[in-house]
Amino acid sequence: MSYRLTVIGTGYLGATHAACMAALGFEVLGLDVDPVKIARLRAGELPIYEPGLQDLMRRGLESGRLRFTTSYEEIAEFGDVHFVCVGTPQKKGEYAADVSYLDAVVESLAPHLTRECLVVGKSTVPVGTAQRLADKLARLAPSGALVELAWNPEFLREGFAVKDTLHPDRIVLGVVSDKAEKIMREVYEPMLREGTPMVITDYPTAELVKVAANAFLATKISFINAMAEVCEAAHADVKDLSLALSFDERIGGRFLNPGLGFGGGCLPKDIRAFMARAGELGADQALTFLREVDAINMRRRNRMVDLARELTGGSFRGCSVTVLGAAFKPNSDDIRDSPALDVAVKIREQGGDVTVYDPVALENARRAHPSLKFGESALEAARGAHVVLLLTEWQEFIDLDAETLGSVVASRRIVDGRNALDAETWRAAGWHYRALGRP
Ligand code: UDX
Repeated sequence: MSYRLTVIGTGYLGATHAACMAALGFEVLGLDVDPVKIARLRAGELPIYEPGLQDLMRRGLESGRLRFTTSYEEIAEFGDVHFVCVGTPQKKGEYAADVSYLDAVVESLAPHLTRECLVVGKSTVPVGTAQRLADKLARLAPSGALVELAWNPEFLREGFAVKDTLHPDRIVLGVVSDKAEKIMREVYEPMLREGTPMVITDYPTAELVKVAANAFLATKISFINAMAEVCEAAHADVKDLSLALSFDERIGGRFLNPGLGFGGGCLPKDIRAFMARAGELGADQALTFLREVDAINMRRRNRMVDLARELTGGSFRGCSVTVLGAAFKPNSDDIRDSPALDVAVKIREQGGDVTVYDPVALENARRAHPSLKFGESALEAARGAHVVLLLTEWQEFIDLDAETLGSVVASRRIVDGRNALDAETWRAAGWHYRALGRP
């Protein structure tokens, strides 16, 4: 049987999931409470920049397999499997995650559930949330025991969202019945056929896998950035160190790029929410190291500001500073907790005349930081600069010609915040080249 799917929440995760499931041949109905967003999606306009997604979305809409609505009644009537993809942001002024959007989904959906169906949570949540939502669902749904909950965390990376959704590394499923497992095996059959491993487990383990994965990745990045701090003190080279470590298969080279550290909508908030939840469970000691992981990460941003100030003679007053990059990482227009913008704002606060350029995230950055200046190209942003900072490693910046950029700046000084450039090439072109963690 081909199940009819719904996707609740059409942000990053939901929009991608809906378009990908339609591409696999399912009939998909996406829901969002924001009518403006839904009108845009119906017109094929994406809320986000994501390579390959626009095309899938357009094809889904044209085929009629992908539709959007704001009506919970309609999705309850339509769907056999409801994927819940709403956000769980960090609470204001706290470490904990705000799961109120998930509760709102269950409260809005459940009263309309008069037939058999499976509700599948994909959002990243504090452990224990799934069981609580399952109880709530059972309490509120008229069809009672015919409605079940499964937990199926999502591991997609921005910039690779389509690939990660259609060809995931693994599928993790927290279930309480064989029936739910059987349905999900049918839904994910195309991935399972490709050999994607599937781990079937309980709710709390499924919830934990996601935060554990993100905690590990954050730790790996902060580990190499801690080594960068030591390298700076010891006049050693963290780029060579990282390369040498990467050949040890037990360590591996991925997520071992030293630089300005992690940002975005997931890693920073997930490790904080994880610590908060462990504290509630009385297991806070187990995760105190994540506090250090977070602190190392934030210190890189200050170190970047200090290094830039060193190059401008100890003060930013009267200095033009060019910031290349606004997105939290390349191939994304996401500026949530962007290390690049954080550094730009800090330098602005210390009196620097900062101009930012980003190939894709410029408009988002402009809206969020009206006090910063923006250039329409790397060259325009760098005109008259006393120092250039490469803070997001877009290919466009890696491909910059040292001579051409040198011809527009006031002084050839560059700090490579992502260890992305070839130091020798830049030095040969007369640049004073500095990088985080390197002599
Ligand atoms: C992350 C997880 O990878 C993904 O599995 C999860 O579902 C959501 O969170 P994402 O936020 O898209 O995905 O970004 P990711 O590619 O993981 O990068 C995170 C941050 O780490 C970026 O700011 C990136 O610049 C930084 N990073 C990454 C480093 O500083 N060094 C590295 O070696 C790798």
